[in-house]
Amino acid sequence: MLRRKIKSLIGLDVGTHSIKAVELTRDGYNFVMTGYGQAEVVSEDERPDAILHVLRESVFHTKRVVTAVYGKSVIVRYLSMMRMPDEDLRNAIRFEADKYIPFDVEEVVMDCQSFPEETGGDLGENEMRVLLVAVKRALIDDHVSLLNGLGLQPTMIDVDSFAVGNAFEVVQGTNLEDQDPDRAIALLDIGANKTNINIFRGGTSRFTREVYLAGDDFTHAISKRLGHDLETAERLKRDPGDDFEQVMEAVSPALDDLANEVHLSFDYFENQFDREVEEVYLSGGGARLSGLDQTLERILNRSTSLWDPTEGIEINESSVDAEAVRENACQLAVAIGLASRVQEL
Ligand SMILES: Nc1ncnc2c1ncn2[C@@H]1O[C@H](COP(=O)(O)OP(=O)(O)OP(=O)(O)O)[C@@H](O)[C@H]1O
Ligand SMILES: [Mg+2]
Repeated sequence: MLRRKIKSLIGLDVGTHSIKAVELTRDGYNFVMTGYGQAEVVSEDERPDAILHVLRESVFHTKRVVTAVYGKSVIVRYLSMMRMPDEDLRNAIRFEADKYIPFDVEEVVMDCQSFPEETGGDLGENEMRVLLVAVKRALIDDHVSLLNGLGLQPTMIDVDSFAVGNAFEVVQGTNLEDQDPDRAIALLDIGANKTNINIFRGGTSRFTREVYLAGDDFTHAISKRLGHDLETAERLKRDPGDDFEQVMEAVSPALDDLANEVHLSFDYFENQFDREVEEVYLSGGGARLSGLDQTLERILNRSTSLWDPTEGIEINESSVDAEAVRENACQLAVAIGLASRVQEL
């Protein structure tokens, strides 16, 4: 009898605050979550042990893993270039790249993609938008050797903010295709250390940026303003109870700073594309702060809501703790986006 080959992939999100691993298995056109583990990282040195812990404590069915890079060694740029076929673009980009990459071109791994269907905005008549991604080779080598050392098979390496976009596409599916192709929405993944801003238009990411303001800054603000140590401030942030008003007041300057950065990105995008960002979708552990969605909605003056990256994904309850997934769902956008690349295997 012929058996359909079942393919699985682990999306491993090595965040500064927590490691998240999600295994997705492709079942026809559907995704099934067949593995999940999560652990907080106490210190940088303990990171490999924390990854091992996550992988050993939970059930996973494959060693194939896709992970993401982020930070200052990752450059993402949307350029306008003369229209040309993809083969020519790959050569042309080599000559263009050093204008946009602050490192020696020899030190980086580069990839590019063109969007020939896009017109208007700041694009000239014969121009097209091109996405250029350059990552320092050393960062990729570090990731690969870390994963190999843990007995894993690194299959692909992605960029954090693109993974959030991929997860959003999985959840929204055909909804995105049915929408006005010009509609622009923003995804904000608010982690511990950084917030990823990803502006989507026509179902494709058109702008990404990392801002170093996120959940841990909220904790520091609470600690400083209310005079608590960091541990107490963290507890209060997660469960403010009767101190809700005080906590929101304490984090308010940090939220204003974050919103200012987001506004700058929206302004840039809106000028470049001549299109307003209509809605904002929040994910990441930092977005679990109660009242954050309403506060950001007020400051950003656009409809703002939390979204659930696990929505529509079937959970195999014999190998996955479904309750833990539901509890931590908003932290899983990157891991799910990474694992969703199982469709490319
Ligand atoms: N219930 C909660 N309420 C408020 N904040 C929370 C809650 N649970 C977790 N957080 C915060 O979420 C952040 C961790 O989120 P997440 O796991 O998305 O970060 P990370 O991916 O490890 O970090 P980064 O993406 O910045 O590297 C921490 O700042 C933590 O304090
Ligand atoms: Mg993160």
